[in-house]
Amino acid sequence: MTQNQLFTPIRIGGLELVGRFVKSATTETLCTDDGFVTDDLIEYYEKIAQGGTPLLITGNAYFNLYSKGAPRQLAADNDDKILGLRRLTDAVHRHGSKIFMQIYHVGRQASPRLVGRTDAVSPSPVFEPTLGVRPRAITREEIEEAVQGLADAAARGQQAGFDGIQIHAAHGYLINAFLTPHTNRRKDEYGGSFENRLRFLLEVYGAIRQRVGQDYPVIMKINGSDELRLRKGLKPDDMVKVAQRMEAQGVDAVEISAGHYESGLTFERGHWRKFFSTVTTIGVGRNLPSYHRIPVRLLSPLLDWGLRRIASYSEGFNLRYSKLFKQALSIPVICVGGFVHREAMERAIVSRECDMVSVARALIADPFLYRHMQEGVQGPQCDFCNACYARAAAWPTDCYNDEVRAQRDRMLRTELG
Ligand SMILES: Cc1cc2nc3c(=O)[nH]c(=O)nc-3n(C[C@H](O)[C@H](O)[C@H](O)COP(=O)(O)O)c2cc1C
Repeated sequence: MTQNQLFTPIRIGGLELVGRFVKSATTETLCTDDGFVTDDLIEYYEKIAQGGTPLLITGNAYFNLYSKGAPRQLAADNDDKILGLRRLTDAVHRHGSKIFMQIYHVGRQASPRLVGRTDAVSPSPVFEPTLGVRPRAITREEIEEAVQGLADAAARGQQAGFDGIQIHAAHGYLINAFLTPHTNRRKDEYGGSFENRLRFLLEVYGAIRQRVGQDYPVIMKINGSDELRLRKGLKPDDMVKVAQRMEAQGVDAVEISAGHYESGLTFERGHWRKFFSTVTTIGVGRNLPSYHRIPVRLLSPLLDWGLRRIASYSEGFNLRYSKLFKQALSIPVICVGGFVHREAMERAIVSRECDMVSVARALIADPFLYRHMQEGVQGPQCDFCNACYARAAAWPTDCYNDEVRAQRDRMLRTELG
């Protein structure tokens, strides 16, 4: 193996990508209130495509009101969305990049009031402590609706010109919540044994395949571990078993992340100094009841310290998991988490800890990161301050670190003329 692996082609199913670098999903809060694509969203994606990123994955798209997690989120809930989605895929394709749509059901990890409903659904009514949500158990009728809804959303994505679909089965959202014994305590055929907990994902995948055909790339984002200490979370071995089953079904690649919200947001990592005060004043937490919001704000320094202790940042922080998937699977394994330097990405691929890397925050700081790495140019660099994540789902996704944002704006003015 040689260096420069990052810039060598790879296939996901039948789709050839020019390099092994992916924009990981970031919910952008740039759509209309009812989920239509806007010019601002297109501009956001177009910049990343202009930067040469071989594959872009959209933020999580919902398909009905119960699956929706936030205002101004991308929707694939109706055929009337296809035209706008087509404008998005055309814009990305014009720059030679590929684009997948991520589809999901938020489950219990959303404040229902924020999206205009009164309750949330999950496999079982297990309290979600970060948002203070007690969901109700999803009914079998709703399960069937969700399976069909996700398949319809995937078919709309295909019609709109997406090069593939990513099923979001990570981060504690509904599909993940079905897999995890802590959140799935059902007594019917969707709960209990490994097979039963896997059933919902298998049904979703099967219904999607039926709609999009055998040759269309369908990939999955999955936790390497639920990182649910002292609760019945899934461990790396369990997750590898899930991925092996999905590979046997025909899934074309897996992206490895980790954690539920109640794990302590371990899928992000970095520093959290202003995170909790920001979330509870101007972020999604501003709508929490005061008995929840005020203690979080007061305990902010303690929470920052605690989160850094249970899940400290290191570049490629999910590699410890992705390498286990790499050993067990033949399909491409994508690792997300903390990447910012070319050397670290190269090392991860060359040492066979993953086949590809994906990046969220470092691309918010520098949408031209891929091209900059190719050219050996140092662009604006993410310092994982989580100012973007603190505003996620409430503000348009952007870099909110004043210094890095100023560098980014200067860079865009210079490079775009
Ligand atoms: C603003 C923001 C929005 C995000 N939205 C999504 C999302 O819609 N779907 C998803 O799977 N992950 C989402 N994530 C998580 C990222 O995809 C990624 O897993 C995480 O940020 C770790 O990668 P990074 O260290 O490169 O940022 C989001 C992250 C951020 C910062």
